[in-house]
Amino acid sequence: MKAITLHINGNRLAAEVEPRTHLGDFLRDSARLTGTHLGCEHGVCGACTVLVDGEPVRSCITFAVSCQGRHVTTVEGYDGDAIMQRLRPAFTRHHALQCGYCTPGMLATARDIVLRLPEADEARVRLELAGNLCRCTGYMGIVAAILDVLAQLRAEPDPDITALREQARAGQFAPPPPAITQGGIKAMPALAQGARAASAATVAAPTAPASESAPQEQEVTAIRGGTRIEASFELPYAAAAVWAFMGDLPAVAACLPGAAIESQEGDKVKGRIAIKFGPMAAAFVGAARLERDELAQRAVLRGAGQDSLSRSRAQGDIAYQLVTLDAGRTRVDVDMLYTLQGPLAQFSRSGLVKDFVRRLVADFGREVQARMGASGDAPTAAPAAIQPLRSLLALLWQRLWRGLTGGR
Ligand code: FES
Ligand code: FES
Repeated sequence: MKAITLHINGNRLAAEVEPRTHLGDFLRDSARLTGTHLGCEHGVCGACTVLVDGEPVRSCITFAVSCQGRHVTTVEGYDGDAIMQRLRPAFTRHHALQCGYCTPGMLATARDIVLRLPEADEARVRLELAGNLCRCTGYMGIVAAILDVLAQLRAEPDPDITALREQARAGQFAPPPPAITQGGIKAMPALAQGARAASAATVAAPTAPASESAPQEQEVTAIRGGTRIEASFELPYAAAAVWAFMGDLPAVAACLPGAAIESQEGDKVKGRIAIKFGPMAAAFVGAARLERDELAQRAVLRGAGQDSLSRSRAQGDIAYQLVTLDAGRTRVDVDMLYTLQGPLAQFSRSGLVKDFVRRLVADFGREVQARMGASGDAPTAAPAAIQPLRSLLALLWQRLWRGLTGGR
């Protein structure tokens, strides 16, 4: 693994990556900026095009480590960009997209054309666009949108875009101003200060001087990437009692259907968890460590494991935050972030699986409530057995009902 720090859409993101990780995968899986699309993954289709230090690059054939310290702009980061403010409506006006798959890459290349080639005609625009494939539009609308923006700027120059062009001609790069809201990048819930400091390097100054009112570059905690699921449950107990219970790992594991702890050493545990969901069955064996922030009543369980049957690997964080509702009621907000590699990875993002996990969290909450209410400290009942068929049928019914009632 190699530690890198990138400036993505004005946010500094520090993370550890394998040297072979492509920038596109890093953006999608670690920064969770899924607006960058991957098509051919061979550098042919251009769908994955992003800007690195202001220039278009194919993120599927660019290593993330080679972008160390550089400014990456994805489709989520153009909100403050003067050129994109003209291109976006022009794409809409000229029907320059249908499915939209090629659009993030098309926009990056279109921005580069508008920036570098103020006098480009249709033939030149088509030539410059030759590295971006679109299977839907036939290119007519895309070419028309770019020509439209070029014509607008010739008729009435925009001082901001003129300045950008001059900088580009001088070989200078000014990253687009950070967007105020960053779609996709979202810091994990804050952990203990030590953990935060360990995962982030010092803040680098933006290359371009920021005006006083401009949004400043933010620091973002490293994210290991993957699928995120948020859920919560309420308990009729004071936060202090819930916090004490949640610190007892064997007791917590006993509330999780299919989970068993095999050994424990301080805040580290080894164990297994069996999951059965429709045709999918897995028994992950692995290790986890619990980090608790006593003051904030916030914790994260970091773990990794492997399913011996499918050889799939899972890695993830389960973070939870206690929220006091009143003296006798607490809400537990759970934030899961996980990656699955191997044959089971195909299941990780489906909505059905996410609903299934949310249901598991709700079941977990009910089990915690039952155990805390049983006798104070000592659990009395046997752990609930996982009931995958019941859960699956309940979910399918829920989805069918949602479909029939239009989501009401
Ligand atoms: S996905 Fe990168 S060029 Fe096709
Ligand atoms: S709009 Fe569908 S691939 Fe271009």
